[in-house]
Amino acid sequence: VSQVCVTQRIFPEAIELLQAENLSHSYHESDQALDSHDLNEAIKGCEGLICLITDKVDAVLMDQAPNLKVIANVAVGYDNIDVAAASERGIVVTNTPDVLTETTADLTFALLLAAARRIPEADTYMRSGQFKEFKLYQPQIGVDVFGKTLGIVGMGRIGTAVARRGALGFGMKVLYTANSSKPEAEKELGAKQVTFEELLKESDFISINTPSTPETHHLFTLKEFEQMKRSAFLINAARGPIVKEDDLAEALESGLIQGAGIDVFEREPLIDSKLAQLKKHVVVAPHIGSASVETRRNMSLMAAQNVISALKGQCPPNALNPEIWKDV
Ligand code: DGY
Repeated sequence: VSQVCVTQRIFPEAIELLQAENLSHSYHESDQALDSHDLNEAIKGCEGLICLITDKVDAVLMDQAPNLKVIANVAVGYDNIDVAAASERGIVVTNTPDVLTETTADLTFALLLAAARRIPEADTYMRSGQFKEFKLYQPQIGVDVFGKTLGIVGMGRIGTAVARRGALGFGMKVLYTANSSKPEAEKELGAKQVTFEELLKESDFISINTPSTPETHHLFTLKEFEQMKRSAFLINAARGPIVKEDDLAEALESGLIQGAGIDVFEREPLIDSKLAQLKKHVVVAPHIGSASVETRRNMSLMAAQNVISALKGQCPPNALNPEIWKDV
């Protein structure tokens, strides 16, 4: 029986950390998630679990491993884990905040720019040999980003990093919604807290940077798209279920909004989504927000460190439910 179960391939440096601590581990070194039966089998007897967002960690799974002390998600989002069920069982859950903030904000902004300036369309045009001569009225004529209004839904770590790029890099006016006001962002970036309705009405670009929770489920439906400017863009590098995807496709098709940059989907992988058929001012990516080598390595290391701390009897640094931790 191994002490630590690693459900999918992570960076080798993280496995080396486990080895250096002499923690025995079972490692499913594959980029394919285990199905629920195999996951149930894999975790039997383990004390620490290192998992990814594609692993559903619920009460049934936890009950396969009565000695489980720590679940370390290699992600900042943890909607794949039933944290309440973990707390009831005295299991500490950890995530990987901070290390991926700037990387995810970079990708968010890349989607915004690519959608506004139609970069994928231009790329396809070039590669198919259609570029014959410069035209003033290019087929890929886009819209400006600088000086526009950027609305941030969820002004947490990543939202603030996106806002900073907009305000300081592109002279954008920043509006935001959040559970509490953010005086620092208001001072540094001139950001203004507004109601959700105001944000919908006034933004040229809306970036979703909020976690997926029952409250944010389908926060964006046709009703919200109807309130947005017809020239507006929606950028989502947070979680798919926050947007009702069919409604987004309809809003884009019917011209309720102009464009979108989408990194996350209601059903991943993206199969048969209407969204993937749309091209003009629409950019889709395969959930790559945090996907830089440096950041994915740091996330792997952070998860391993969280497990190591917990198995050494210390409350791990990134505990999401530290209140359940009892020092031993
Ligand atoms: C996260 O961290 O939540 C991402 O979705 C996966 O990197």
